[in-house]
Amino acid sequence: MLKTSYPPRTLASLIMVTTHSRNENGHTSHITQSKSLYHEKACQLANASTLSLAPMMDYTDRHFRRLVRLISTHTLLYTEMITANAIVQQHQKYITAQSDPMTHPNRYLDKLIGQGRVEPLEGPCVLQLGGSNPDILGQATAIVFEQSQQQQHPLCDYTAINLNCGCPSPKVAGSGCFGAALMSEPHLVKDCVLAMSQGCHSTLPITVKCRIGTDEHIAPFDTNNIHTPETKKRLYQKLCEFIDIVSSSGVVTDFQIHSRIAVLDKNFSPADNRNIPPLQYDLVYQLVHDFPHLSFSLNGGVDSLQHAQQHLHSCQGLKGVMVRVELIYFGFKCTLLTC
Ligand SMILES: Cc1cc2nc3c(=O)[nH]c(=O)nc-3n(C[C@H](O)[C@H](O)[C@H](O)COP(=O)(O)O)c2cc1C
Repeated sequence: MLKTSYPPRTLASLIMVTTHSRNENGHTSHITQSKSLYHEKACQLANASTLSLAPMMDYTDRHFRRLVRLISTHTLLYTEMITANAIVQQHQKYITAQSDPMTHPNRYLDKLIGQGRVEPLEGPCVLQLGGSNPDILGQATAIVFEQSQQQQHPLCDYTAINLNCGCPSPKVAGSGCFGAALMSEPHLVKDCVLAMSQGCHSTLPITVKCRIGTDEHIAPFDTNNIHTPETKKRLYQKLCEFIDIVSSSGVVTDFQIHSRIAVLDKNFSPADNRNIPPLQYDLVYQLVHDFPHLSFSLNGGVDSLQHAQQHLHSCQGLKGVMVRVELIYFGFKCTLLTC
């Protein structure tokens, strides 16, 4: 049984926002209220553009997202990855600072999870979290939820929360099971997403960004053998297992798939991991075909809007294409950005 503990204030405010309404029998119907909040967010997610902006550390901060929002009202934006630990720690500072009238208590959390509050607002935007401890991830989403429900100065209003299962950086993959290393721990990922959903009282869609696999599934990694039928078959089997187990949580129906494996070997830099493992779009197309009840966005190596459109035409049922900052930056053609 999954146990998740939340900071006392957070739990109190969760109860406050969810116990107002009563059903016809006079019982509190917080479930109805959560469902309607969830429905609103799920619609926002579904109605966002098929083109999304990939999460990028040190790039997709709130200032950059504001710039993109000025160009396109529909592009689905992702924050850079924020670690769940950092949110929980900064929340603690926030609680402490509340007793000091000289300090603006929200500044700690604002840096991490704050969104632009000047028109045009951020619109559809997904907060990406990094972590592998269900308890901490649950606490972090509870804090995000609490901040979005503040009556006077809500810090944020995200459309969904995403778990990073694709980052291959040794700094991340090496410290416990984190980022792409989580692809070998689908049951742990399931616990994490359940805790995240529980943390926000099931009011936000939870999504997962991952790779098509890691070298652990096909070790040793060799660019020559990655396309052999046996390797591909094994890779796809493991990928299906991951998707199956994570989606069996019942809270994740939306996946963003980076179409390369992650090589977790410490001698492989993050840049190597974005360039050396070959792109295998066919595996993403196959997922779309084999899991018609789930939605998938394709990511990796998409370098023009025509290329993005090609994927959408070639793979009926593909929900969207996730592109890098540069494409948005240089594709200043607003109409095309909402393809
Ligand atoms: C500088 C940089 C920072 C990135 N930061 C993140 C991140 O915080 N979270 C994440 O899931 N992916 C991150 N990525 C990976 C991208 O989201 C994307 O999956 C990857 O670049 C593959 O797409 P591409 O081939 O179009 O570059 C980062 C990539 C770059 C280049």
